[in-house]
Amino acid sequence: MTKKYKIAFMPGDGIGNDVLEAARMVIEEGTDFQAEFIHGDIGWVFWEKEGDALPARTVEMMKETDAALFGAITSKPNVKGYRSPIVRLRQIFNLYSNMRPCKAYEGNPLNYRDDIDLVVFRENTEGLYSGVEFYDLKELQNIGVFKKYDINKTTVSCRIFTEEGCRRIIRRGFEYAQKKGYPTVTLVHKANVIRATDGMFLRIAEEVAKDFPKIEVWKQNIDAMCMQLVKNPQKFGVIVTTNMFGDIVSDLTAQLVGGLGFAASASTSDSYGLFEPTHGSAPKYAGQYKVNPIAAILSVKLMFEWLGENKLAEAVENAVKRNIKEGKVKTYDLGGTSSTLDVAKDIVRILNE
Ligand code: NAI
Ligand code: MG
Repeated sequence: MTKKYKIAFMPGDGIGNDVLEAARMVIEEGTDFQAEFIHGDIGWVFWEKEGDALPARTVEMMKETDAALFGAITSKPNVKGYRSPIVRLRQIFNLYSNMRPCKAYEGNPLNYRDDIDLVVFRENTEGLYSGVEFYDLKELQNIGVFKKYDINKTTVSCRIFTEEGCRRIIRRGFEYAQKKGYPTVTLVHKANVIRATDGMFLRIAEEVAKDFPKIEVWKQNIDAMCMQLVKNPQKFGVIVTTNMFGDIVSDLTAQLVGGLGFAASASTSDSYGLFEPTHGSAPKYAGQYKVNPIAAILSVKLMFEWLGENKLAEAVENAVKRNIKEGKVKTYDLGGTSSTLDVAKDIVRILNE
C-alpha cells in the first residue's frame, strides 16, 4: 500500500532531536497515520560543515512533501553570513501565518490560571524580521533624515508591512475564530507611535472585520496587552499581531499554560505547513532525553488538523490531556523524573487503549 502523505522530518540541533524522536514515536506507534518520513538536513551542524544551515537539497526535498515536522535549531548572534534557516524557510515557503495555541490543560500544575484558552496568530514573513538591515548608513545617507547620524556608528533594521501581508494574517485569525467559536479577535499594535506600519495594519483589520460581523473586535497596544495578559488572560480568544510583537507575546502566553514544554506552533501558507515546538535547541539538555516532548507532540496534533486528519488530531490532543491529568509520567519541568521518551510511551499507551 502506498503511504498517503510525505512528511519532511527535520529534527535540527540539540533537543530538536530528542523531542522529534518522541513525536514520531507517538505518530508511528499510537496512530495509523499513513506517512513516509523523509529526513531533512538543517541547523548549526550544517553551517559548520557546509557553510549553509539550510542546504538547497533540504528545500528541494521539502517541495515534494505535504508538510514538515521541525525540531529546533541553534543560532548564534554576530556570525557573518549566517541567517537563521527557520526564518529563511518561512520566507521561501511563504509561511505567513504562525499560529500558537495556548490552552490550560486540566491538572497542569504550571497553569497560571485554569481557564485560559487563547490562540496567537503572528505574521511570520515581514515586519521587523524582513531581514532588510543596514550596518552602516552609506546606502541611506542621501535620504534627508539620516544625515544627522554618524554613518559608521548607526545601524538600521526595516519594519516592512504590505497590505497583502497584513490582510492574509488578519483574515486567518478571523476565520479561525469563526470556525472554532472564539467570540473575540484582539489586534495587537502600537499604531500611536509606529504610525505608518501599524496604522495600516489596523486599517486593513477594519476592512477584514466587516466580513465577520459576529466577532467582537478588540484593539490593544502591545505594552497594555502584556499587562492585560497577566491580569486577565482568560478574557482573550484569538489574538492577531505582527511579526516581532507576536514573537514576544506568544512566549508570554506560552508561559501562562506551562511554558516552552507545552508551546506548539503551526507555520502555514495557503498550501504548505511546517509544524514545530516554539522552544529552541536548549543545548545544555541536548541528547539527554530530559525535556518535555508535549510541545512537539501538540505540534503533531496541529499538523494532523491542517492535513484534515481531524480524528487523529483530536485523539492526540486527548491523549496529551490524559497524560497531564493523570500526572504520573512527567518530565522535570513538571517536577517529574520521567524521560522524554517515557512521556511519549505513556501517550502511545493512552492512544492504544
Ligand atoms: P531554548 O528554548 O532552547 O531553551 C531555554 C530554556 O527553556 C531551556 O534551557 C530549558 O530550561 C527550557 N526548555 C526549552 N524547551 C523545553 C522543553 N521542551 N521542556 C522543558 N524545558 C524546556 O532557548 P534559548 O536557550 O534561548 O536558545 C537556545 C538556542 O536555540 C539558541 O541557539 C537559539 O537561537 C535557538 N532557538 C531556536 C528556535 C527555533 O529553532 N525555532 C527558537 C528559539 C531559540
Ligand atoms: Mg520566539
